[in-house]
Amino acid sequence: MTLAQHYQQHLSVDSVLGQVAEHYPDGPTFFQLAPLDQLHIGGIKASARLMGLLDSQTHPRLLDIGAGAGGLMRQAAEAGFEMLGLDITHGFNHLNQGLSQLAGLEHRAHCITADALNLPLADASMDAVLFQHSFLNMPDSAAVLNECRRVLRPDGKLVMHEVVRGPHANAMRYPVPWASDAQHSHLESADQLRQQLEQAGFHIDHFIDWSDDALAWRQRQRAKETQQSRQAVLSPSWFLVSAF
Ligand SMILES: C[S@@+](CC[C@H](N)C(=O)[O-])C[C@H]1O[C@@H](n2cnc3c(N)ncnc32)[C@H](O)[C@@H]1O
Repeated sequence: MTLAQHYQQHLSVDSVLGQVAEHYPDGPTFFQLAPLDQLHIGGIKASARLMGLLDSQTHPRLLDIGAGAGGLMRQAAEAGFEMLGLDITHGFNHLNQGLSQLAGLEHRAHCITADALNLPLADASMDAVLFQHSFLNMPDSAAVLNECRRVLRPDGKLVMHEVVRGPHANAMRYPVPWASDAQHSHLESADQLRQQLEQAGFHIDHFIDWSDDALAWRQRQRAKETQQSRQAVLSPSWFLVSAF
């Protein structure tokens, strides 16, 4: 199975967009879309923390690599950034674009289908690059970081929120949300990630361990998922198998 198949095998874009339009005829807000389009630990708050590391005055043009269904993109677009989302899963880009249209943000949030290994962008054309739970799918991460360096302007920024390899990685069982099997999971330890960033020529300003927050968030989510009455109106189960 290709990575795109893992993510889009149960996705029917028209059906999801139809249901969103039906629930929110005046257009959904990014809060309302969050259960559907923030496919990472920590939801909206995690995306807000990432954006808090950037300034839309000094770094307005952002590239979100592995943008998925585009939750962070619309949140950032509303905060004044010009967003370009890039994803290898074409179905997600199609969904992302449709959601931006429903939210009235399509003029500030564009997306393209491409592989992070070969960014179809000019040198120094971006002010900042973001990854949120997408680097973990990338086998040749050193080459991806080189591509980021190439498309970033000289004082550009790279911002990542990633799952890293812990001390018991060999005990990990599949499927995990980002991969059906080991073929598409490429976790690195925090130390390896730091080294790779430095080898690619990045200077590390912040390196924050969010593990405690992530575990607490996951426990809260589990509690919500088991309370039928509190289930969100929109649900990622519309297009992700229950194994996700
Ligand atoms: C777990 S999802 C996260 C989506 C989004 N960043 C979010 O937080 O909601 C990972 C995304 O990375 C994308 N991706 C993985 N490898 C990629 C690559 N080499 N190039 C572009 N996109 C990639 C996948 O298609 C998927 O949409």
